[in-house]
Amino acid sequence: MRAVRTVRIGVLGGGTVAAPVVGLLRERAEDLAVQAGARLEVVHVAVADVAKPRPPEVPAALVTGDAAAVVVDPGVDVVVELIGGVDVAGPLVRAALEAGKPVVTANKALLASPEGAELRSLARSHGVDLLYEAAVAGAIPLVRALRQSLTGERIVRVMGIVNGTTNYLLTKMDEQDAPYVAVLAEAQRLGLAERDPTADVAGQDAAAKAAILAGVAFGYDVSVDQVDCEGITAIEQPDVAFARRTGHVVKLLAIVERVGEGSVSVRVHPTLVPRDHPLAGVRDAFNAVFVEGEAAGELMLYGQGAGGLPTASAVVGDVIDAARNLLAGTTAPAPERRPVRIEPPSSLCSRYYVRLDVEDRPGVLGAVATVFGSHGVSISSMEQETPERLADEEGAAGRDASGLARLLFVTHEAATGDVAATLADLDAIPAVVRVANALRILPWERR
Ligand SMILES: NC(=O)c1ccc[n+]([C@@H]2O[C@H](COP(=O)([O-])OP(=O)(O)OC[C@H]3O[C@@H](n4cnc5c(N)ncnc54)[C@H](OP(=O)(O)O)[C@@H]3O)[C@@H](O)[C@H]2O)c1
Repeated sequence: MRAVRTVRIGVLGGGTVAAPVVGLLRERAEDLAVQAGARLEVVHVAVADVAKPRPPEVPAALVTGDAAAVVVDPGVDVVVELIGGVDVAGPLVRAALEAGKPVVTANKALLASPEGAELRSLARSHGVDLLYEAAVAGAIPLVRALRQSLTGERIVRVMGIVNGTTNYLLTKMDEQDAPYVAVLAEAQRLGLAERDPTADVAGQDAAAKAAILAGVAFGYDVSVDQVDCEGITAIEQPDVAFARRTGHVVKLLAIVERVGEGSVSVRVHPTLVPRDHPLAGVRDAFNAVFVEGEAAGELMLYGQGAGGLPTASAVVGDVIDAARNLLAGTTAPAPERRPVRIEPPSSLCSRYYVRLDVEDRPGVLGAVATVFGSHGVSISSMEQETPERLADEEGAAGRDASGLARLLFVTHEAATGDVAATLADLDAIPAVVRVANALRILPWERR
């Protein structure tokens, strides 16, 4: 009979994701041993505060306060990093890789930081796995799908709803016709938004995931500071209402797109998505990633993008892969990253929706149209809303809109740089009281 080996696992962190990881590894030990070809035994759970009460799935006997000792312990075969952030987790992951131990992590901040590239090359040079399925879109098997199932595919574009909090907020603004501040307060009450929601609503969390996706889909090292990022804080009810009226829905998209050979665009911005696009139907805190490949065409992966247990499922999948590879003396495919040129956002083209509050008097529309024309931005349609409606809505937002009119434009396709110059010039016209918003419109033809 074949001897049953044991792969010993050191878990760093005992929080939201780590606790269910430890729980799954222990409760499903028999099944997982069959999958992995070895018993997976959690031997340490390193935490910051050993005195803190832990859920029952984390036995006190496993808890230690010395994460640095865990990563170099010869009695640990695989390290699972679930602390998060860069400053503490970075040196621990580095030490584990240098000690020749495979690392599984869900840490998007670390992987998308400039240090992420160093850690990937460290893993390669030491011939060990650095696996991170859970770092993008939680339970959705995206990294493995791109890296293995679609490895022969020439990916053209990957577009994702990869932040559950913002998708929940935008869904409620659309379905309940409720203002941003009200839906944010409700999401915070339900635990779906952090008390300080900045990383989510400013788009930084999605930007880190976009950077990681650029690496997985295109093989380029991109860090979060190279991602052109715009969040959802400027979205107001009139934008959501315009989207609904014109057959769109506002979504925060993370987009990585091949622009030319060796050149990609990596960006995060709110977008008007046509209602019949598959991403438009992704509601509440769900995530989805829409992949376009030259041969495979379009496909979409959908599921729970966060939460302790769904994320733990992806972590455990990686632990099994790491254990299998360890036993086979191999590593998961992680092709050498290539140098990349990040396409400047100003050169990309899109149709735009633009909302302006202007003085309600003759001549203003002509002046506004002249500014669009002076930058070669062609107007496809224009609506003017009644001053009464504007006064009601702006009044609710605490702004006096008496004597104002609201203009809503849709442009033909225009370079982002030309649109930005148009908006800057519009802002300088005294009769334009507010350039309220400008959002890209996703091109889409249902096939
Ligand atoms: N939560 C999600 O839904 C989700 C989804 C996808 C990815 N992720 C990623 O998963 C990772 C973990 O997130 P989480 O939500 O589980 O975080 P969390 O609940 O805040 O847990 C973090 C854990 O790290 C421990 N820790 C902090 N400093 C430490 C140190 N110096 N040494 C040892 N342990 C230390 C904490 O210990 P104490 O318990 O003693 O404070 C805590 O148990 C992050 O990278 C996050 O981005 C999370």
